[in-house]
Amino acid sequence: MNVLLIGSGGREHALAWALCKSARTGSLFIAPGNPGTVRCGTNVALNASDHAAVLAFIEEHEIGLTVVGPEQPLVEGITDFLTANGKLVFGPTQAAAQLEGSKSFAKGIMKKYGVPTGDYLVFEGHEAGAAREHITRNNSWPMVLKADGLAAGKGVFIPQNLDEALWSLDALLADGLYGKPGSRLVIEEFLSGEEVSVFAVCDGKNTRILMHAQDHKRIGDGDTGLNTGGMGAYGPTPLLDEAGLEGVRLTVVEPMLRGMAAEGSPYTGVLYCGLMMTPDGPKVIEFNCRFGDPECQVIMPALQSDFTELLLAACEGRLDSYEPVVDTQSWYTCLVLASGGYPGSYEKGKVISGIPAESEQVQVFHAGTKTDESGRLVTNGGRVLNVVAKGETLADSIRLAYEAAAQISFEGLYKRTDIGAKGLARF
Ligand code: AMP
Ligand code: GLY
Repeated sequence: MNVLLIGSGGREHALAWALCKSARTGSLFIAPGNPGTVRCGTNVALNASDHAAVLAFIEEHEIGLTVVGPEQPLVEGITDFLTANGKLVFGPTQAAAQLEGSKSFAKGIMKKYGVPTGDYLVFEGHEAGAAREHITRNNSWPMVLKADGLAAGKGVFIPQNLDEALWSLDALLADGLYGKPGSRLVIEEFLSGEEVSVFAVCDGKNTRILMHAQDHKRIGDGDTGLNTGGMGAYGPTPLLDEAGLEGVRLTVVEPMLRGMAAEGSPYTGVLYCGLMMTPDGPKVIEFNCRFGDPECQVIMPALQSDFTELLLAACEGRLDSYEPVVDTQSWYTCLVLASGGYPGSYEKGKVISGIPAESEQVQVFHAGTKTDESGRLVTNGGRVLNVVAKGETLADSIRLAYEAAAQISFEGLYKRTDIGAKGLARF
């Protein structure tokens, strides 16, 4: 079966790598892909927002399955359009993708179906006065203010005092930088603990948890500095054992699936549960409607089952009779190699050298790379490469990832030096 994958980041290189290993995949096309995905299939210049062009491509190339990597096309309704035209798509509908696309929607479903999450209030854009009053009255720090819609990771503020909170409120409401001007916002309880990402493949009724991983969102060692897309990940984590994961299935994933079905929007695709491990147990911080980046880069190498077969089982509603196999005996660590300056401004076009060959232990997934006019591989984004290593222990996988990463160079290369240390500290 020919497969089309939408996206171009490190997550999509990992997805392409897993899709092209499948016995079920015929030709694999990646739109638009990156220089790494070329080794897995054919990159095509298709704009995912142009639904008619995507459909025409699917028909011309006899695509049997379309896999959507990032959230934006899902929130824009690519699944609805292609499904209405009789095509098979892995990824939720526009209505179901609202679990990521609207924080107030996600909170409402969680509240209605009893899924553990922090307390919250929703304010419309014209309710600035009421929001200000709530912040002043509540006067408990830190506080969490979020833009309701997709904001590319920039819509969350965690003020530590009243001045910061009022500044954040103005920023969210006033200038439209963090969502549409005057749009809705959510003010919620600050949850403390460590964060874990749990990934469940869902078919509308049934779910299979693949793996859980821990991201490192801040730019600096020790989780300091600005938030990024993610500077590294490892999995599985010592924060959830088998019983803990079963608890997440029973208290989070299954009630959400039942709730979404009851609301008339059954959820098919990956449900990414961003959890805070609080003293009262895991609570949901957010849902995403796709795999995490860089978490996906540790999940794909751990997946032993045929990935295309798994996605087909989800799209066809047969996950109840399909049990994916995941390597739970090993540990996987992913290091992100970034451009100096990221997540602020950075230069592009730096020549990359020393990428080690793929082995049983090590994979290097591309993200912000491109091939220049002279055929050289150069940097082309903030997060440039993902180095993933498998080890018999977490410490081994961390060591192997850092050894492989040390072979790679480009001007300004930045990486955190403590990926996985949070996990090691728990043994
Ligand atoms: P989000 O975009 O909702 O994932 O938020 C981005 C980051 O902000 C999360 O990964 C957390 O580190 C932090 N965060 C969001 N909501 C909360 C919360 N209620 N309590 C504590 N930290 C939070
Ligand atoms: N790793 C965080 C995310 O994918 O949203």
